[in-house]
Amino acid sequence: MDIKQAKQAVRDALVPVLKSTQLTADEIFNLIEVPKNARMGDFAFPTFQLAKQLHQSPVNIAQEIVGKLDQAAFTKVEAKGPYINFFVLRDQVTQTTLNDILVAGENYGFSQQGQQKTIVLDMSSPNIAKPMSMGHLRSTVIGNSLSNIFNKLNYKTVKINHLGDWGTQFGKLMVAYKKWGSEEEVKRDPITNLQRYYVKFHQLDKEHPELDDEAREWFKKLENGDPEATHLWEWFRSESLKAFEQVYEELGVDFDSFKGEAFYNDKMSEIVQLLEDKNLLQASQGAEIVDLGDDLPPAMIKKSDGATLYITRDLAAALYRKRTYDFDKALYVVGSEQSIHFEQLKATLAKMGYDWAKDIEHVKFGLITSGGKKLSTRSGRVILLEQVLRDSVKLARQQIEEKNPTLANKEQVAHDVGVGAVVFHDLKNNRTDNFDFQLEEVVRFEGETGPYVQYSHARAMSILRKANYQVEATGLPAALDDNTWAIVTDLAKFPQVVQQAGMQREPSVIAKYALHLAKTFNHYYAHTKILVEDADLQLRLNLVQAVAIVLKEALNILGVAAPDEM
Ligand code: ARG
Repeated sequence: MDIKQAKQAVRDALVPVLKSTQLTADEIFNLIEVPKNARMGDFAFPTFQLAKQLHQSPVNIAQEIVGKLDQAAFTKVEAKGPYINFFVLRDQVTQTTLNDILVAGENYGFSQQGQQKTIVLDMSSPNIAKPMSMGHLRSTVIGNSLSNIFNKLNYKTVKINHLGDWGTQFGKLMVAYKKWGSEEEVKRDPITNLQRYYVKFHQLDKEHPELDDEAREWFKKLENGDPEATHLWEWFRSESLKAFEQVYEELGVDFDSFKGEAFYNDKMSEIVQLLEDKNLLQASQGAEIVDLGDDLPPAMIKKSDGATLYITRDLAAALYRKRTYDFDKALYVVGSEQSIHFEQLKATLAKMGYDWAKDIEHVKFGLITSGGKKLSTRSGRVILLEQVLRDSVKLARQQIEEKNPTLANKEQVAHDVGVGAVVFHDLKNNRTDNFDFQLEEVVRFEGETGPYVQYSHARAMSILRKANYQVEATGLPAALDDNTWAIVTDLAKFPQVVQQAGMQREPSVIAKYALHLAKTFNHYYAHTKILVEDADLQLRLNLVQAVAIVLKEALNILGVAAPDEM
């Protein structure tokens, strides 16, 4: 019997006794709770909602039901105030859960739910010639983890990097490069130097408005295919992309497509035409807009000079993706500050008559601040992601030198732990929460951190190595204490946790689960002699193995490596 069947047994015991209440079996099932404190049983049924109908106090009802109930499928059933507490056959559930995990291995928690339907993820999407910000890091790691979650739920995923590789800022960049830049500098360190030129432009353009005129001219040249402008654009783009790819490699994230904004240049006219055909375009002060009613500002499709905008490109991109991938859902992992933009996108597609507009979803996330202040490229107040990763790996290396100086592959482990710390830190908070970034906080190796979970996994692996562990099916436990049972209930929850994380588009559900399982395991470890030759030795080792499997899989879903030793 696994934990799901145990819950069904609770329902099946209650159904005949509650016949007169007209509650359906499903309603009864949904009322069953899991008590916070395991001493109150594994499941509880509250009786408040029956009081009115049965004209009795909830306490009396609980006692009466317990008297009538078939208790064969439980070790104990008791009335406690307005609750009926059920103690399941823990021996059987332990045996079944552990064996299920050993057989499934890394596939434990997989479900058929998605039926191979496609989910498109628009993620990362940094802007060319600018450093990848902490916001882009959030988008990258949240998107990557969501992709892993949906794969585990049997969805196909398409990870698209919608690069910001078009727009008037390229005119500014060209002007700045030609005035203050050098080829040699860009080659040496493209992002830093391009960024420097850009910031300089913005420091000077208030007093020298002629700079803006020049920038507009260069962007026009680019739009018209001028060879020099095109060459510069391609060069900025490829140098930036090389730098981004280094970061993606560090993070272990890959993409199915790098089609950015520029890819849609030749698809603008179709979108404008479609909007015109559907009579949705209105002239407004020389610009062309789509009116979206009282609740949303109109979507500006074309500026008075004929230039298309961010949303025009997103309309074209949405249409292209629907045609190319026939997606079931299209998720945009982008900061909350773009909420209105995505509402406009969705509303415009709906007005165009596309019923799939409902499948467009903005998966928003909170802002990262530094010292309480907003980060901004223009002002030069940025946290450089590459620097963060480097510092974090350095700290990891120091820790390893102190704790385990003889460890093999120290460099690899330092990398896994340092990068894992940053990724985990980013994913453990609810995605919509804002948080202030402090490096010391991120790379702390105790408390609620990635390295803590990684360390718990490595500890489990070391026990198994010491025991020369061999898989062998679990029998019924000779004895079963509360610490063991606490792990079994955590392990049994994993498949549900993955589903919940998918439904809420919330990797933090997995991160919090992993922290909890690690804590439960460390508590068990502190109170149990695992390697003692007695009747339950194999069971304990199987338990440790199951913990290792599930911790590793939870970390992998988050995009964090789980070294065997650290
Ligand atoms: N490049 C944009 C930015 O950095 C994010 C793009 C998000 N994706 C999209 N399809 N609009 O703000």
